[in-house]
Amino acid sequence: MFVSIILLLICVVFIIIQLKSRRPKNFPPGPTVLPILGNLLELSLENPLNDFERLRKTYGNVYSIFLGPKPAVVINGMKTIKEALVTKGVDFAGRPQDLLVNDSTQRKGVILADYGPSWKEQRRFALMTLRNFGMGKDSMEERIHEEIKYTMDTLEKSIGQSISPRIMFHNAASNIICQVLFGIRYEYDDEVIKVIVQCFTENAKIANGPWAMLYDSFPMIRSLPLPFRKAFKNVETCQKLAISWMNEHKQTRVPGEPRDFVDCYLDRMDKAGDDQSSFSEAQLTMYILDLHFAGTDTTSNTLLTGFLYLMNYPHIQERCQQEIDEVLDGKDQASAEDRNSMPYMQAVIHEVQRVANTVPLSVFHCTTKDTELMGYSIPKGTLIIPNLSSVLNEEGQWKFPNEFNPENFLNDQGEFVKPEAFMPFSAGPRMCLGEGLARMELFLIMVTLLRKFKFLWPEDAGEPDFTPVYGVTLTPKPYRMKLQLRETN
Ligand code: HEM
Repeated sequence: MFVSIILLLICVVFIIIQLKSRRPKNFPPGPTVLPILGNLLELSLENPLNDFERLRKTYGNVYSIFLGPKPAVVINGMKTIKEALVTKGVDFAGRPQDLLVNDSTQRKGVILADYGPSWKEQRRFALMTLRNFGMGKDSMEERIHEEIKYTMDTLEKSIGQSISPRIMFHNAASNIICQVLFGIRYEYDDEVIKVIVQCFTENAKIANGPWAMLYDSFPMIRSLPLPFRKAFKNVETCQKLAISWMNEHKQTRVPGEPRDFVDCYLDRMDKAGDDQSSFSEAQLTMYILDLHFAGTDTTSNTLLTGFLYLMNYPHIQERCQQEIDEVLDGKDQASAEDRNSMPYMQAVIHEVQRVANTVPLSVFHCTTKDTELMGYSIPKGTLIIPNLSSVLNEEGQWKFPNEFNPENFLNDQGEFVKPEAFMPFSAGPRMCLGEGLARMELFLIMVTLLRKFKFLWPEDAGEPDFTPVYGVTLTPKPYRMKLQLRETN
């Protein structure tokens, strides 16, 4: 009996040793890896950002953790992230292919596509299409201004009252990208837009949440009816809508005279014929969803953060308004070019983006070949987590890393300067492809609203809570704002 127990114990220990995931030779260091669980117990599944910071303090700017049996390398700090994503851009430009987000989006689209010719072709197409987006009434700028009119109407109806701006900003950002993609906008109470915004915001939380972490770590639970299935349902719902938009465009388009992104894509498909091109209808429907998803939650959460801070730093709000009044004196509306004459407003918008830290862990990357970083060896196919938060408040990179202060972006002469560590859009070949559109939206929306209204923190709202809710995007906690028409108007 005694011998059997000893033998059994030896077997258990042997199995544990076999199951234990090990770091490959010269792999970045990290906490002790437990069998099966890896380092999951080290991380808060609700919000691991503080844990990532704690581990950085112990192991340095490049360390590894195991998500279940899967090793991942977390990269921190400006120098390290630039070295990986820019200097060794191609080595680090892959995307992992076996996560919940890949399965739920059927490996189509551009955000999660792995590095290779198809991703390159699709990305180049989007960058060019967004850049050449028509002139005059059809321009990106005018499409944004069209939408701002509706936001202004909503706000005008709320003068003197306190309102929750969350849905309004989400709908505005969603409508702008809808206008760019397929030339449609929806009323703010339209059921279609409510469904899309709901699906996207839910998926942004699921994708980085505890159930995604369990799905990614333990393949054997993937077919079980657990809460992560909601992510698949949400994608299906949106996909049906995207297919209907595409079909409608196929019927009404005039080839060679594109009205919007979808028409440009259909024109491109005509050109491609049936060769080995990556342009297809299935690809287009997921592309629509990708751009809509990437362009909605990010921009709207940045705007929400902006107004949260501006209400609670009224002297900064007033200084923006002074500059806006001076520069726009006699003009009907702001234009993107006015950015050059508004250094303070530029500094405020950049500072908002810095503290908003909207996509704190970027989108996960993956190594495309065996490579090295800061003297460590990282094999091909390793999951890479770029911790952008660690750069946006990195000591030594900012004059005031831990406070909301536009001086972070101003020099002694009051001119706008952009420190190298400003990377809310990430860096390198996978860097956000909507940066130009996002920056134009943030500027035109904030300037137009601040020109007309004064935003006040309601007297009965208590102390503001600046701590955001964690997800793929960080979201400010729900809040209300009070509005007054500005006297200058
Ligand atoms: C304030 C707003 C925004 C922020 C902070 C933001 C941030 C980011 C970040 C951090 C990434 C990951 C880059 C990487 O993997 O290294 C990304 C990727 C991406 N973003 Fe944005 N984004 C914003 C707005 C937009 C908009 C408006 C669009 C739509 C046109 C967009 C489209 C994309 C796409 C398609 C990708 C994937 C690029 C690729 O994998 O090649 N983003 N964005």
